[in-house]
Amino acid sequence: MKYRRILLKLSGESLMGEKQFGIDNKRLSTYASQIKEIHELGVEVAIVIGGGNIFRGVQAEEGGMDRTHGDYMGMLATMINSMALQAALESAGLSTRLQSAIEMKEISEPYVRRRAVRHLEKGRVVIFGAGTGNPFFTTDSAASLRAIEINADVILKGTRVDGIYTADPEKDPSATKFDTITFDDAYARGLKVMDMTAFTLCKENDLPIIVFDMDTPGNLKRLLEGEQVGTIVRN
Ligand code: GTP
Repeated sequence: MKYRRILLKLSGESLMGEKQFGIDNKRLSTYASQIKEIHELGVEVAIVIGGGNIFRGVQAEEGGMDRTHGDYMGMLATMINSMALQAALESAGLSTRLQSAIEMKEISEPYVRRRAVRHLEKGRVVIFGAGTGNPFFTTDSAASLRAIEINADVILKGTRVDGIYTADPEKDPSATKFDTITFDDAYARGLKVMDMTAFTLCKENDLPIIVFDMDTPGNLKRLLEGEQVGTIVRN
């Protein structure tokens, strides 16, 4: 196995599936079965999921709300998605633990790094909710931070596109996809992999990022079995 421990970053928006808002149960169960497939390969799986299908901090700012206030609302949105994902994973037969960066002890364990690692060692899927617990940080940053803390071998960033292109493939039909790109090259070309905070954390801690299409069932498993799926960004 190429990767022993992974951090899977899922987009909140993808959870909408065909819907305009909220959570599409079909999408949720597709994700759960894909995660189950890789868990069965023996991979230790930690997950961070965004909250954009429910609330985005930047939206709040546009409406005149204080950015920090909006960001905290966004963190709560990630907890709703995390709980939904936890339920879907458990109905698929996986054992899970949810840890929150903001204390809400009636519904989640608090984030405790050593405990998270122990859960992973015991074969539990660990979901990290509430981002980093701080405003001004995205869930991509939370994913990078947690991945580094738990010594994950890689971040798998599930998106709607199947990798990183020379230009936006939805706008420029001549755009071509990279199989591999270095952090420096991606930066020099102005390619958007993650926000700069997340990107820099990964680069400085030598943590590769693989951007891949999570909405094509089977992709995640193929990736972990060593097939060329998506784009890997590394030093
Ligand atoms: P082991 O010590 O490895 O057996 O791990 P464990 O997670 O099974 O131990 P524990 O007895 O601490 O947890 C049992 C259940 O309670 C798990 O589902 C935990 O997620 C949950 N749990 C533990 N701490 C908290 C907490 O502070 N708040 C909430 N809501 N649940 C908790």
